[in-house]
Amino acid sequence: MSSDPFESVRQMLADVEQVAIADAASLESFRLEYLGSKNRIKPMFGLMGQISTDRKKEFGQLLNELKNRAEEKFEAFKEKLVNPSNAAQHIPDLSLPAINLHRGRRHPISQVMDRIVDIFTKIGFEVVEDREMEDDWNNFTALNTPDDHPARDMQDTYYLKDLPGLLLRTHTSSVQSRFMTSNTPPIRILAPGRVYRNETISSRSHCQFHQVEGLYIDKGVTMADLKQTLLFFAKEMYGPDISIRLRPSYFPFTEPSAEMDIYWGLQNETDYRITKGTGWLEILGCGMVDPAVLSNCGIDPEVYSGFAFGMGIERQAMRQFMIPDIRYFFENDLRFLQQF
Ligand code: DAH
Repeated sequence: MSSDPFESVRQMLADVEQVAIADAASLESFRLEYLGSKNRIKPMFGLMGQISTDRKKEFGQLLNELKNRAEEKFEAFKEKLVNPSNAAQHIPDLSLPAINLHRGRRHPISQVMDRIVDIFTKIGFEVVEDREMEDDWNNFTALNTPDDHPARDMQDTYYLKDLPGLLLRTHTSSVQSRFMTSNTPPIRILAPGRVYRNETISSRSHCQFHQVEGLYIDKGVTMADLKQTLLFFAKEMYGPDISIRLRPSYFPFTEPSAEMDIYWGLQNETDYRITKGTGWLEILGCGMVDPAVLSNCGIDPEVYSGFAFGMGIERQAMRQFMIPDIRYFFENDLRFLQQF
């Protein structure tokens, strides 16, 4: 015990605060120690004689505080222990139905995105993520998209009013230029993420959606590598019997360019609406990276070549789960989400 009476009382106050009371036995020993007839607090009152007159009042108050805290603590724990709602004493009725804890689950879009990432990481692609607020250079200019391209139009792209020069990326292809300018080949990346376009919302399109971008740059990469990679992907994703088709297309950043469709089916009204009456669903754009894009990003097109693709996730989730309308994914209706 400290030779300073004030310090001794403060120390005991700290002891009282710290005592752990877990059951009736520890409550009883607390009572004996601090409130019983031979309690530890009583002798403290005897120290009053050592206190100078001008501090007696202060010392008295401190002693009272100690006594009160011990009593309060005792009462509070006694109440807890005798109250049958206390879990330690309460024996639960095991026959009662369980409380429904509403376990969370992955959003169907995230589930499909994870699947795609798994498939491509198996063949050596590495996941890279980047910003959704992008600049004009990475979203358009580096990707060979000319100034008069309709995608640059205010009607098609969300420009950020208060942040001149910035826009919400219209595709994950912006990650291509970001990555190529700061890395050297061989490059084999996969960039999943959210993209935005000023689209009229319908059962097939939305103003926000998700894409996964793929980019492979090395010496001697050809269109045959692209086709084989996509076929591998489609079989892993949809099973060995899936039919795919590549159609010639145009993108400013690839030459040649193509789009890939998977067979959806053509039996009911949904099939006709989603596939525009063809039975085929377009899921991605792809092509051989245009040499001008490689140069823009500091890679020598005389030495390296590569392919790229950008696939929509919502469409594939619709195919996977046979969902007739893209808008379900963004409504956060639990009746919908709980099905996955
Ligand atoms: N960025 C294109 C789009 O959003 C899709 C795309 C096409 C990505 C061709 C690519 C590509 O990487 O090579 O419509």
